[in-house]
Amino acid sequence: VKTVTVGLDARSYPIHVGRELLPRAGEYLAQAGCRGRVAVVTNPTVAALYLPALARSLSEAGLDAREVVIPDGEEHKNLRTLGAVYDQLIRAGLERGSWIVALGGGVVGDLAGFAAATFLRGVAFAQIPTTLLAQVDASVGGKTAVNHRAGKNLIGAFYQPRLVLADVDVLRTLPRREFVAGLSEVIKYGIIEDAELFRALENDLGALLAMNSERLTAVIAASCAIKAKVVESDEREEDYRAVLNFGHTVGHALEAATAYRRFLHGEAVAIGIAAASRISVEENLLAETEFARILELLAKAGLPATIPADIDRDKLVRKMEVDKKATGGKVRFVLCAGIGRTRFHWLEPRAIAAKLKDA
Ligand SMILES: NC(=O)c1ccc[n+]([C@@H]2O[C@H](COP(=O)([O-])OP(=O)(O)OC[C@H]3O[C@@H](n4cnc5c(N)ncnc54)[C@H](O)[C@@H]3O)[C@@H](O)[C@H]2O)c1
Repeated sequence: VKTVTVGLDARSYPIHVGRELLPRAGEYLAQAGCRGRVAVVTNPTVAALYLPALARSLSEAGLDAREVVIPDGEEHKNLRTLGAVYDQLIRAGLERGSWIVALGGGVVGDLAGFAAATFLRGVAFAQIPTTLLAQVDASVGGKTAVNHRAGKNLIGAFYQPRLVLADVDVLRTLPRREFVAGLSEVIKYGIIEDAELFRALENDLGALLAMNSERLTAVIAASCAIKAKVVESDEREEDYRAVLNFGHTVGHALEAATAYRRFLHGEAVAIGIAAASRISVEENLLAETEFARILELLAKAGLPATIPADIDRDKLVRKMEVDKKATGGKVRFVLCAGIGRTRFHWLEPRAIAAKLKDA
């Protein structure tokens, strides 16, 4: 088991990564100070696979677990589901000192985290992420949210968990497409912060795709360490945390332009990574040879890297313009200045699209 600490003074917390963590979750929670009643928020897919083991472990640790099941799917990450969760938390008799545990992917984690941030003005919360994306990204850093009709993640809070348990064993049941999509965030960490991680990915991709637990543990822990470092330096994304948006400006626009139906988040991000890298070459920040390595790694992982021809470029521009991170008509675009380094440039969405004309 590898442990990464997110250092935020009194709100610091550990992320444990490794095998067989879920069956020992009760111990870890008790050690972190969890007592009495615990609400486990999950969905039917994950509950069928992992709730019995978690419930057993919680009960062995003397915790009184109550299940709160929400429907599976991004379309349920909304205020309506949140309302139903509050109802169940009240019915379960949760108190100020009780904990909420999120068991699932990013959808469960984001919604359960926001419930924890707001219920009784905040109760303690732990993440047990079960997708690769959630283990390397969504469960770390304290962004919690639900979607609004007008856009994704518009209603939320910064609220850090007390504990994250990333059990690599649970990734074995994850659909292949979901696993591969999660790899794009791992590749992103290598490109923005860690040339060594990038090289490890080039060498070990086969082992990762074959679910080698040791390599998975190493790569997930390295990813969490990078996110932790960035979050420690700028928890509320006032400045440097925006580096994590590498590949996401175009990625988000692609997701929005296709009504969140065509691409998984990680797939859209992979196309965004290729786009941002291409622009980095054009801006003379990134060498062609390194750009080629990025494209090759995306391809080896089985991720897409080009914007499909049928996607309307004007629509992409409009989506980038209304991005909640845009200011004064420009977006703070993250570029790669050599693998492992970044640079921010303020760019107009139209200029970004123009640079991608032949992409
Ligand atoms: N808070 C953050 O910082 C942050 C960062 C990135 C993404 N997100 C959010 O995360 C969400 C996407 O998360 P996701 O990609 O994990 O999707 P998800 O939560 O929808 O999970 C994907 C699918 O996999 C299933 N699943 C989960 N674990 C499984 C397992 N071990 N075995 C089999 N099936 C399993 C789920 O039921 C679901 O059907 C989005 O809502 C996004 O906004 C948040």
